[in-house]
Amino acid sequence: MDFEIYELPEAAKHYPTPKVPMLPAFSFSDLSFLADNSRHSRFLQPDAVFVPSGRMALYYVLQLLDISQEDEVLLPAYHCGSMLEPVLYVGASPVFYSLTSDLQIDIGELRRRITKETKALLVPHFFGFAQDLDRLRAFCDQNSIALIEDCAHSFYGTAGEQLLGSVGDYSIASTVKFFPGVEGGVLVSNKEEIPAQQIFSRSQGPYQQLKSCINTLEMAANYSRLGILGRLLKHRSKPDDSSEKVRSEYSATTEKKRHLTRDVFQWFMPEQIGVRASYTTKAITTYWNSRTNISKRRKNYQYIVSELCNIEGIKPLFENLSDTTVPYVIPVLIDNPELTFPKLKHKGIPIWRWEELVDTDCNISRDYRLKLIQLPCHQTLSNYEIEWIIGSIKKILI
Ligand SMILES: Cc1ncc(COP(=O)(O)O)c(C=O)c1O
Repeated sequence: MDFEIYELPEAAKHYPTPKVPMLPAFSFSDLSFLADNSRHSRFLQPDAVFVPSGRMALYYVLQLLDISQEDEVLLPAYHCGSMLEPVLYVGASPVFYSLTSDLQIDIGELRRRITKETKALLVPHFFGFAQDLDRLRAFCDQNSIALIEDCAHSFYGTAGEQLLGSVGDYSIASTVKFFPGVEGGVLVSNKEEIPAQQIFSRSQGPYQQLKSCINTLEMAANYSRLGILGRLLKHRSKPDDSSEKVRSEYSATTEKKRHLTRDVFQWFMPEQIGVRASYTTKAITTYWNSRTNISKRRKNYQYIVSELCNIEGIKPLFENLSDTTVPYVIPVLIDNPELTFPKLKHKGIPIWRWEELVDTDCNISRDYRLKLIQLPCHQTLSNYEIEWIIGSIKKILI
C-alpha cells in the first residue's frame, strides 16, 4: 500500500468556533412521538442497527462481508478519513476511483479499477445527491462484488421509487449529520438479517449515556437554544484570541503529506467495537419529526443557493434540487481558496472542507480538496442565522 494522505495545515487547528451551528442543535419542539417516521428513511425501519458512528457502521459491513487482507475495496478519490480507515483497519486495500465534476461515478472508470481481488464498491451519495443506483447495482452484480451504499450524507431521499439505502447489499448512515447529537451511525442489510446480538458485546455504561445526553443539550445551549435550561447549561468559554495569531503565523493551506499506514488511526476508534449507540442517539433519531426535517432542509438549501448564486467568487455545485433530494449541506466552489477559506473561517461562518484525503490521480478531487466548501442548510437554523451567514459571505466576497 503506497499512498500519501494530505495533512491538515496548522492554521486549521486554530480557527475560531463557528457562530452558527454547522450541524443540527437540539430542541424539544422538534420531537414528534406520534409521526410515522419510518416511511421517510431506510434507516428508520425496524431492522436498522444503531452504532456509535457511521465509520463504525462501515467497519461492521466490511466484517459482515468477510473482507480482510488481500481484498480490495473501491473507494471514491474524493473522500474523508472516516470512509477510509475502516477499510485499512480490516486489512483490506483501498483502490480509488475518479469522479466526474458533479461527483458522480463513471462506470467506465470502475471497469478500469476492478481486479479479481475487488470485493466491494463503496458508493456515497455526496451531500445528499443520489448516484445512478440502477447502473451501479448492475455493475456490482455483473462483477460479483458487494455494493455498499454510503448514506452518511443521504439519511433521506430516494432514487426513483426507492429510498436511498435500500439498493446496496448493505448501507450505512451517520445520524449526527441529520439529527442533534454527539455520536451515532446506523447500518442496514438488504440481503440477510444482521446478527446484531453477535456484533454487540456491550451497551454504553451509565456515565457514557449521561455524557451523550448532556453533551447534546450543552451543544444546543452554546448556540442559545433551550431557553432557561440552555442558560443554565451554557458553557462559558473564554473569548477566542487565536484569530490574530493564526493570521500572522500560519498558512491556510499545506501540501504536506504523510505516508498512509495501518498503524495510526486518526478517525477510526477500535475501542468502540462491540458498543451500541447511546439511548439518546437512538431516541432523538427515532422521534425527530422527519417531515419537517426534510422540508426545512430543502427550503433552506433553495433559499441560500438563490442568494449566493449571483455572487462572484462562489458557485453552488448544484443550483437545483430534484423533488427527491434531501440535502445534507450545500456544496459550493470558491475562487482563491487560499485567501477566501480562512477569511470565512475567521468570520465564524460554519464551513467545512475535506482537506485530508489521499493523493490520487483524480484531478477533480485535487481541485475540490481546497475549493469545495460545505455550508449548512440543516433544519435547526433560524432565519436570523441564515441571513447572518448570507450577509457575512457577501461582505467578504463583494
Ligand atoms: C461520506 C461519509 N461517509 C462516512 C462518514 C462517517 O460518518 P461518521 O462521522 O458518523 O463516522 C462520513 C463522515 O463525515 C462521510 O462524510
